[in-house]
Amino acid sequence: MIEAAAAAYSPQNAQGWRFLPHGDRLYARLDPSRMFPVVDPTHRGSWVSLGAAVENARLAAAAAGYATAVSFDPTQEWPASVQVATGTTADQSNVVLAAQMMSRRTHRGRMTPPPLSRAELSAAARAALPGARVVTTPARDRVRVLDAVEFAVRVQVGDRDARRDLHRWHRFWPWEAKRATDGLLAANLGMSRIRGIVGRVLAAPPLVSMLGVPARLGREARRAAATATDFLVFASPRNDPAALFEGGRGWQRAALALCASGAVTHAMTAPVDVPDAAAILRRVHGITEVEGLVAFVRAGRPERVLPPVPRRDPADLIDIIGP
Ligand SMILES: Cc1cc2nc3c(=O)[nH]c(=O)nc-3n(C[C@H](O)[C@H](O)[C@H](O)COP(=O)(O)O)c2cc1C
Repeated sequence: MIEAAAAAYSPQNAQGWRFLPHGDRLYARLDPSRMFPVVDPTHRGSWVSLGAAVENARLAAAAAGYATAVSFDPTQEWPASVQVATGTTADQSNVVLAAQMMSRRTHRGRMTPPPLSRAELSAAARAALPGARVVTTPARDRVRVLDAVEFAVRVQVGDRDARRDLHRWHRFWPWEAKRATDGLLAANLGMSRIRGIVGRVLAAPPLVSMLGVPARLGREARRAAATATDFLVFASPRNDPAALFEGGRGWQRAALALCASGAVTHAMTAPVDVPDAAAILRRVHGITEVEGLVAFVRAGRPERVLPPVPRRDPADLIDIIGP
């Protein structure tokens, strides 16, 4: 279950989760040392990602024929848990989703037509319930959404503290990854070493704006986003940790459902994290202030299928209660 949990998506692949197996439950909480205080001060993405990890853990048990129950109580030190019991037969829909867990990956590359079919979109929307409702971007609003992507990336890259927050997870050399003790490499986030090194040099604040780096990266993000045939926005009924956690479970299930039909997904977080861009996403997709923005996702068919990216050793994610 923990290996399945770690195959879930997480911001920058930081995998900011801790797990505690105890009795008939697997408990889960956030790892405060692996969060994003500047770009995500409310931990929105971290709660979403914890939901995704817990849903994967649940799917692993459910696909093996166990009865499962997920609970979440934000007042507890270990807020989330999956309770497992014997004595049921595996529900086929869990088996289909669980079969995709280890091969699903964020597809940052180009996507090609045809667009997702109605059947694929409704399978994804069904899978996302009850945690998240899925809204697709109407064709007439594509340009506004691309504007929001470009604007958000420009703002985020132009903010020195936000850059630092993200750079913390970009290790371009194997020895850096080794020193960080989790083996994560920026190459797994689709970043080339040359660009990364140049980026580090240019990260000095005056240079970044003098050379127009934020504007250039904004345009690049827009071009990459534009190759998606579909944009999906996932919304949770409320904007609190419990609802975002459930929204993350829904988004994870929808991503797995799309994977099962050969489609791919790619979350872009800047337009959700930058408030003015998030306001555009809300307006275009009819998402109210009360609802939570779980994810903005490019979706489509991959030009090229890529292998899954490495994870932290599951043993490093486990807390043990002493005897
Ligand atoms: C809340 C959240 C936000 C994310 N935002 C981005 C993003 O802006 N750009 C991106 O390329 N990937 C984004 N991702 C995807 C992660 O980088 C990805 O899940 C992680 O690197 C693990 O790789 P995998 O999804 O291929 O297994 C996001 C994931 C989560 C959970």
